[in-house]
Amino acid sequence: MSFSARLDAATAAVLARAMEGGPSQLARALHYAVTPGGARIRPTILLSVASACGDDRPHLSDAAAVALELIHCASLVHDDLPCFDDADTRRGKATVHKAFSQPLAVLTGDSLIVLAFDILAAAAQDGSHSDVQRALSMVRVLAARTGMPMGICAGQGWESESSINLSAYHRAKTGALFIAATQMGAIAAGQEPDQWEELGARIGEAFQVADDLRDALYDADALGKPAGQDAIHARPNAVAELGVQGAVSRLQDILGGAISSIPRCQGEATLAQMVRRYAEKMTPALPQLNAAAR
Ligand code: IPE
Ligand code: IPE
Ligand code: MG
Ligand code: MG
Repeated sequence: MSFSARLDAATAAVLARAMEGGPSQLARALHYAVTPGGARIRPTILLSVASACGDDRPHLSDAAAVALELIHCASLVHDDLPCFDDADTRRGKATVHKAFSQPLAVLTGDSLIVLAFDILAAAAQDGSHSDVQRALSMVRVLAARTGMPMGICAGQGWESESSINLSAYHRAKTGALFIAATQMGAIAAGQEPDQWEELGARIGEAFQVADDLRDALYDADALGKPAGQDAIHARPNAVAELGVQGAVSRLQDILGGAISSIPRCQGEATLAQMVRRYAEKMTPALPQLNAAAR
């Protein structure tokens, strides 16, 4: 089965259980926040790493992939609220608080975060002793990369500081869930997570630079969410810091480094291929840039 078919099936099963019997508006809001979803880049990376490491327990890697994506979706629902970025659109449709209400958006994010950790606990219960160890280790990684002091909560928290440490901000806001992706993929397949941190961090950094470029150069229709937000909110970003061409060179350097950081594993060559494909996807997606570079 393809990664995307695995993800769709596992996500649908989790959502069906979560929506059964509860308040119907909140149940609909959960479904709305998660499906049809965006690029699903984090769980795809997770499954790619698990696969490169042998993927001997696919029920654990599936659980990890869904848990990670739910945390990401929750972070977007909260990020769009009026008290954060006050965004009206996300993934080409109305944001959850616009389509439902602010209370339901807060509760949607909360419910998705709890559900993410429950999926990992349930996967441990369904499995053997070694599955329990792997699931527990994934809970620790996901918690570290979601909360304080270095997860996405910390990342969002930097925006309330009077002076921002740019690299800590980006590493926590965006890099954290990419590090969770590579590390959880490795753990699900029985590997040590430490050596997988660098690959996640580098992909995350590249993703942030690409996101800054898209935010500066695209319009809202192309993005499916408001554009020009970094400038509007005076957020530190790679385009303001390095200029467009500088940001593109930076993106290419980081992705080169990502490939060299792939740890030895049976699927090393396939993983390098995956990073190269992302590199291609991230740059030609910026037509103005390619024209300017010529
Ligand atoms: C958007 O992430 C939020 C950032 C960290 C910049 P994605 O671009 O991965 O969002 P979706 O899931 O594809 O919509
Ligand atoms: C969202 O960051 C990242 C998290 C919610 C952790 P941004 O606010 O920069 O991303 P978009 O532009 O809304 O997707
Ligand atoms: Mg934000
Ligand atoms: Mg935002």
